[in-house]
This record gives sequence, structure tokens and C-alpha cells, in this order.
Amino acid sequence: MKSFEDINAFYREKLEREVSEDLELYARTGPLQFVYGSGPEHAGVVLIGEAPGKEEVRLGRPFVGKAGAILDEILKATGIKRNSLYITNVVKYRLARPGKRPGTYANRPALPREIQLSLPWLREELIFLKPRLILTLGGVPLKALCFIGNCGILELSACHGKAIDIRINETPSTYVPLYHPASQIYNRSLKPVFEEDFQAVRRLCGDTEE
Ligand code: URA
Repeated sequence: MKSFEDINAFYREKLEREVSEDLELYARTGPLQFVYGSGPEHAGVVLIGEAPGKEEVRLGRPFVGKAGAILDEILKATGIKRNSLYITNVVKYRLARPGKRPGTYANRPALPREIQLSLPWLREELIFLKPRLILTLGGVPLKALCFIGNCGILELSACHGKAIDIRINETPSTYVPLYHPASQIYNRSLKPVFEEDFQAVRRLCGDTEE
């Protein structure tokens, strides 16, 4: 059976090759700086974000920057232990573009093509983990799960906080679409929505509570 190390090494090499062969994508991205998923391999609950940022690259773990601080706050408030979760991203490298000063990089949104190229890696990760519950943070991971589960594309505004059944490689699971923690930095009205949705998550998490 493949280990996580095998899966990560295989898809990293594949993705590096595919990005370098896609001249349009290659020209629009910075150097590929990877951050892998992190957490217990037997976690029943998997949390999926969009892509690592600068701080995640620096520390080598997902959700350790500003968005991670908001996530930690809500996990604490709802009594869900972060170290009981497996945390990963759809795109495993920083979505970078050249910054204003030479040698610097800024974040940018994911391009449809790179979400598509990243799907096989996320799918394999989920097949390996077999989570009973998946939490998607933001529109990109929601879209990714809709593709992986082969169901129609859902709008986050219409389905956030709801438990949705999915089959991944014939294994049944449930996912809950949530807003991205960083969305409340730009739109304060999403904070209470995010908090209410996490109450639903807490009820579904059960054994990860303190
Ligand atoms: N950090 C991550 O790891 N993922 C995100 O989507 C945002 C910040």
C-alpha cells in the first residue's frame, strides 16, 4: 500500500512537470513552493482550504497564518481539537505572482487550470484517509469536491453549513461547505454565519470534541 510520502512525492513531481509544460500557467506563477497536508492519518475529519500562503510556506504547515488564527479561534470556541483533524489544501503550492519589488511574490486566486491539475492529488489523499466528515473552507474546495464526487457544482451561498452526502471512490462520506476563515476579514457580516455553521459542524464532529 502507498504511504503518504509516496503519494506526495508522486503528485508533486507530476504537478511540477505539468505546470512547466503549460506555458501560460508557468508564466503566471512564481516558483512552486509546496506545503503538504498535515495531521493524523486516521483522522475521521478532514478540513480542506484553497492553497497555502507565505506563512504556510515558511512554517511548512497549512493554516498557520492570518486565516489559520481565525480558524484556531473558532475551533477553540466550539471545542474541536485542531490536532484531531487532518488539514490540507486543494492546491498544494503557494498561488504566487511576482510582487512589486524584485524577488518578492504576492498571492493570487487559483486559475481553473491549476485546480483541475490539483484534483487527482486531493482525490488520492481522500481515498487514503477515508474521512467520515469533510469540511471545505471557501469556494475552491467546494468546487473541487463537487468534481471529485461527480455531482453538480453547488453555490457556497446556498449550501454553507449543510451536511451533504458524497461518494469518493465508492466510499460514502459527508461534507459540510463552510466559508473561508479569511472571508470575514473582508466581509464582517460573514463572521456570525461562519460561527453558526461551525455549531452544525460541532454536532457532526462528535468524538473530536474536548
Ligand atoms: N492557509 C491555507 O493553508 N489555506 C488557505 O486556504 C488559506 C490559508
